[in-house]
Amino acid sequence: MISQHTIEQILSRIDVIDIVGSFVKLKKRGTNYLGLCPFHNEKTPSFTVSPAKEIYKCFGCGKSGNSISFLMEHEKYSYVEALRWLANRYNVEIEETETSPAYKEAQQKADSLYIINNFAQKFFSDMLLNTEEGQDIALSYLKERGFNDAVIEKFQLGYCSRQRDAFAKAAAEAQYNPEFLLKSGLVVTRDEQLVDNYRDRIIFPVHNQTGKIIGFGARIIGKNDRAPKYINTPENEIYIKSKILYGSYFARQAIDRADECLLVEGYTDVISLHQAGIENVVASGGTSLTPDQLRLVKKYTNNLTIIYDGDSAGIKAALRGLDLALEEGLNVQLVLIPDKEDPDSYVKKVGNEAFRNFIAQNKKDVVLFQLEVSLKDAGNDSVKKSAVVNRIAETISRLNKAEDFTKQQDYIRQCAGLLHIDEAGLNALVNKFIRDRVTKQENKAQAAELNARPENAESTPGITEDETLSLLNKDELVERNITRALLEFGTYDWGEEQKVYDYILSEFDSNSLHELFDNKQMLLIIETYKTWVQNGVDPSPKSFLYHENIELSTLVVGLMDTRYELSHNWKEHYDGPMPTREELYREEVASTLNYLKLRKIKRLIDENQRDLEKLHSPEEQLTLLQTHQHLKQLEIELIRNQGAVIFK
Ligand code: CTP
Ligand code: MN
Repeated sequence: MISQHTIEQILSRIDVIDIVGSFVKLKKRGTNYLGLCPFHNEKTPSFTVSPAKEIYKCFGCGKSGNSISFLMEHEKYSYVEALRWLANRYNVEIEETETSPAYKEAQQKADSLYIINNFAQKFFSDMLLNTEEGQDIALSYLKERGFNDAVIEKFQLGYCSRQRDAFAKAAAEAQYNPEFLLKSGLVVTRDEQLVDNYRDRIIFPVHNQTGKIIGFGARIIGKNDRAPKYINTPENEIYIKSKILYGSYFARQAIDRADECLLVEGYTDVISLHQAGIENVVASGGTSLTPDQLRLVKKYTNNLTIIYDGDSAGIKAALRGLDLALEEGLNVQLVLIPDKEDPDSYVKKVGNEAFRNFIAQNKKDVVLFQLEVSLKDAGNDSVKKSAVVNRIAETISRLNKAEDFTKQQDYIRQCAGLLHIDEAGLNALVNKFIRDRVTKQENKAQAAELNARPENAESTPGITEDETLSLLNKDELVERNITRALLEFGTYDWGEEQKVYDYILSEFDSNSLHELFDNKQMLLIIETYKTWVQNGVDPSPKSFLYHENIELSTLVVGLMDTRYELSHNWKEHYDGPMPTREELYREEVASTLNYLKLRKIKRLIDENQRDLEKLHSPEEQLTLLQTHQHLKQLEIELIRNQGAVIFK
């Protein structure tokens, strides 16, 4: 367990912009920061981060939370893992209270692989640079291929010796656990002995986006047809191939600056381009792009340029991910490197400037490229040709968002031209694919809804869904508004000796809270708030923000009003000062409380009315009528109050 003291230290250093900003490109907008939401696909940013409130909130999908819940959601960390990540980031030393054996084990599992990889990288680099064998066999090979010292160091390249078990021995000596050594793929068992898996190979460490080594690619030295060219780390807890883009750690900032990501096939392509000063480049390892990889690209840019050599088998693989890329709203261009060169050899041959120019001049839209290739394939075969038409219509139909409409129309025109078919016909075909998909999705959604309803009707664990629902429900808005007013302005002065929370909570005392609030979550917030006040604590939204109950904290974040801060710029266009919510807090408190009471009165009136409609004795009837009158009177007063609040 991490000690409370450590947690407090971590929390005091948290910088939400820094944390969210390491995963999402953020731009300053007024007092807030804005970016593309990492939790849903969007083209115009609606993901807002408020440094003042230490929260993020997406107005597109409704996801919201604090730095910790961001790490939990985005990196799939547990609460404790998120804390550890933060502690590491802000150099807070972790003080453990007691550690449960189960926890210790889980932690060990996750960390062991990183630690082993780290040890291995250092071992292999040392072998490459500082041993005679490494220098003679491996370093000379790398030098011969034109890699310089700086780039070898930057990418932490290494060499695994020819000996059977040089690394395995060193690892055993350093007391690394054999189970994890095997899992890491660095060693294998031969005749019941651990031996090196990457013997006599150049080692390319693979880093994740935060720079930690998750695995290795090991290349044979020179040419040898009898052994595989590369041996790669097997899938394990930290090496998940579908999520890896080699080089992403070194490319992030350059991609950001260029607003373009170059995609190549191999390790050596990435490294050579870096050496030539072209740093916005990642490699897919020659396989088709996965949704996770595309999403990773999309975090940094919408412009993906695939650079492959002309006769690479990898092109086909890359194109298989194309529909997905289009759906993600990426602009995908393709450049083929000519004359049996690949990006590595080509950039070494022609240099930075000529390489850049070549890319710029030969970029081809990938949809049109695909069409040309498959048309060539189909030749005069009319069956194949009609399959091509269908295929391309399906591809184009993926560009289905409103913003993509012009692009889609352009494609239809250009493709109809290439196919020598009627533009209107292709248009109709594209629309058919769109319709089919929509229908399919609708059916799926309906089925899901039907499945979800009966058993989940009572519980409301999904905060955001619940939030959207309550927004639809005006009645609940009343409850949310008073809760928000309490949270934001609770500690402000109400009267001479009274704070806003004294006032609000005293108003609640006379009524039962349970009667006033339908929404159990709002009730929970108010009650937690009340307990804190009773214990002499002045609660603020921040007290909730890092509450150990993540659900509660998310709920409070969901209530916070960041949209209002966004309109700061807008305010400046007006002459004279516009009153802010902050300045009008008394009115807001009075008015929201009033609404809540008004709602209650209305409900009582309704109830009374229903009662009146039943059969009663004359006495009962009279009482009910008097009650009605009394309630109506109260309602009128409240409405008058409301008017005073609103029109003051
Ligand atoms: N690859 C692999 N296993 C192989 C061959 C290739 O995993 N047997 C992956 C590697 O990630 C490699 C990429 O596919 O980097 C591209 O392959 P290739 O172009 O053959 O390798 P390069 O890295 O370009 O190596 P080199 O320039 O030394 O030929
Ligand atoms: Mn190559």
